[in-house]
Amino acid sequence: MRITKALIVLLVIALSASLALPVFAQDGGATYKAKCASCHGPEGQGKIGPALKGTSLTADQIADLLTKGNDAKKPPHKKALASLSADDAKAVADFVKTLK
Ligand code: HEC
Repeated sequence: MRITKALIVLLVIALSASLALPVFAQDGGATYKAKCASCHGPEGQGKIGPALKGTSLTADQIADLLTKGNDAKKPPHKKALASLSADDAKAVADFVKTLK
């Protein structure tokens, strides 16, 4: 009985661990669709904003731009994107780096 319970607990942990990564990546993708695609295009091909696919910026630089803004940039990136948490910014930056 005890062993069955332990096995179930292990199984649940293993399952949630294996699900954690794709879910994380999907979050970045969902955020991108909701908050970036209108300007940068659904595939990052560029629209009002420049193309992001194949960008030479690192994920950290992208996350920084989103959370801090850059005075040298045009809106909306002059200032931080207010509706984006640091975690969201990191996830969406990682997603941007997967666009090819
Ligand atoms: C309202 C339109 C708009 C939205 C929404 C928007 N961007 Fe931008 N983005 C721009 C424009 C315009 C530029 C060019 C700014 C400049 O170069 O001065 C830019 C530039 C960038 C750059 C710099 C590209 C480079 O090569 O220097 C990155 C990275 C970026 N955006 C990521 C994002 C991400 C990720 C999101 C979603 C969280 C987002 N942007 C949302 C319009 C937008």
